[in-house]
Amino acid sequence: MSTPVLTAVAWPYANGPRHIGHVSGFGVPSDVFSRYQRMAGNRVLMVSGTDEHGTPIQVQAEKEGLTPQQAVDKYTRQIGEDLRGLGLTYDLFTRTTTGNHAEVTQQLFLAMNRNGYIVPRTTKGAVSPSTGRTLPDRYIEGTCPICGYDGARGDQCDNCGNQLDAAELINPKSKINGETPKFIETEHLFLDLPAFSNSLAKWLGTKTDWRPNVLNFTKNLVNDMRPRPITRDLDWGVKIPLDVWRDQSMKRFYVWFDAVIGYFSASIEWARRSGNPDAWQEWWTNPEARSYYFMGKDNITFHAQIWPALLLGHNGEGDHGGEVGKYGKLGLPDEIVSSEFLTMSGSKFSTSRGTVIYVEDFLRDFGPDTLRYFIASAGPETQDTDFTWDEFIRRTNSELANEWGNLVNRSISMAHKNVGAIPRPESPTQADEDLKALSLKAFDTAGAHLARSRFKLASSEAMRVVTAANRYLSDQEPWKLKDDPARRDTVLHTALQVVSDANTLLTPFLPHSAQKVHEALGGTGIWAAQPELRDVEDLDIPGRINPILTGDYTTEQAKWKSVPIEVGRPLQKPSPLFAKLDPELGETGPEWAPIVK
Ligand code: MF3
Ligand code: ZN
Repeated sequence: MSTPVLTAVAWPYANGPRHIGHVSGFGVPSDVFSRYQRMAGNRVLMVSGTDEHGTPIQVQAEKEGLTPQQAVDKYTRQIGEDLRGLGLTYDLFTRTTTGNHAEVTQQLFLAMNRNGYIVPRTTKGAVSPSTGRTLPDRYIEGTCPICGYDGARGDQCDNCGNQLDAAELINPKSKINGETPKFIETEHLFLDLPAFSNSLAKWLGTKTDWRPNVLNFTKNLVNDMRPRPITRDLDWGVKIPLDVWRDQSMKRFYVWFDAVIGYFSASIEWARRSGNPDAWQEWWTNPEARSYYFMGKDNITFHAQIWPALLLGHNGEGDHGGEVGKYGKLGLPDEIVSSEFLTMSGSKFSTSRGTVIYVEDFLRDFGPDTLRYFIASAGPETQDTDFTWDEFIRRTNSELANEWGNLVNRSISMAHKNVGAIPRPESPTQADEDLKALSLKAFDTAGAHLARSRFKLASSEAMRVVTAANRYLSDQEPWKLKDDPARRDTVLHTALQVVSDANTLLTPFLPHSAQKVHEALGGTGIWAAQPELRDVEDLDIPGRINPILTGDYTTEQAKWKSVPIEVGRPLQKPSPLFAKLDPELGETGPEWAPIVK
């Protein structure tokens, strides 16, 4: 049975290169999941792109003396490179400045508006007295009116977690220059969130097997259903398709409003590029389809509350009822898969504090699979987790190099040297049967864990097979069986079968090295597919070039099952899979991210 699976991956801001904290939240987990789903025979659509609107972009562009468009053009390409290098198999990684995205955002908005879920309100907006420009809420700091914390931001208080209005702050100050902002009346559009509290609670009530950290957080959100502004006083963003609003140079949609719609618009763009413009429907209007959203925990609110509310509004399924919008009844998220934070010496990874390890540097020195494995097996799956070079070295050296690399190397080398091909097995012993049974069973257990995004459990299940195979070789000592070639060949055949199985089990985590093992076992063609970065013309804005990530993942050979190895198939002499890292690195760190003591 084949299920349409939508893998919806959080959209990184196009305001800088990615660091390993970013990709441990949305990147690697979503790809491990998607690779598994494809191997299991499901039809995956994996979409995302760069998040290119709003103040985070404006601030960065200003810092660099660029226009917002120049800044996003630079960073969307750089981020595309980072994600391609990690082997993240997006069907489409696009951007929010496409013509298609603006059109779909406006259509979804119009449907919600027709159904009565959008209300205008006059609010107090902050302006900088010295520049006359609007001051975004997050650039205002002051004392929280609810808990008294004096580092609260204009959008929310990190101490008590409440959403705030900048005008409510006691003693507000601009974070940019310290001046006291002036508040003026300004009109904005609000999403009538309270009108969705019933339908959101009903939807959430059906979700029982999400990660507990996500479920707890989300259940609390239902208690905070205030109307939320979806527009801002800005000149960078998607325009508001209503009379009067449309022509105002300083009114745009709030960046989070258009960003979450990106999952849907990117699916439509993918379909338009595929030659079948309706192909997106399989993942959005088909009740059989399943959707999984991957992100870091600071994004949960937007995916578990705002995005479902927008979909319900479009579908006419809030308290005001309404009609289904022109796209048909769109499916709500089936699972919000959120990671916690990857920290460094206890604090959140950040560019500003200097504790930053860029993906690009990491890939150049250590390759993609060691990072993928670290994130999947030792990352912040359900709690904040400190990145240390010691732990990275330990995982790489003892698990990847000593356990897995060594098993591949010694079993294939021995068979290559003695037979030159996959040896023929004779009558198997109990030990042979036990090992093969163990690896067969791992397909069920690890598969069930992967389907639920339990990556730590899944990877240790795969490594358990590797450890058992190493123990089997040490017990059977095929190198001492010169006088009994029939038994030696049986042992080597058994070991190679389990190497092949373990390689399949590890493919979602280690797709690049899995391809090498496939070839060392005499396989040809593409085992695990990889994405490519391609320049394409925007579908609606003539002459605009967008670098996208995409790929053909349908012809890869990897399937989630044990495939009997073929007796007599010639073997290649393997080269080491993983280089061992110098433990010294744990003391110093690499020169591009030295450990400061
Ligand atoms: N750009 C946001 C961040 O980095 C994530 C946006 S996810 C989206 O936190 F779906 F809303 F696009
Ligand atoms: Zn507070």
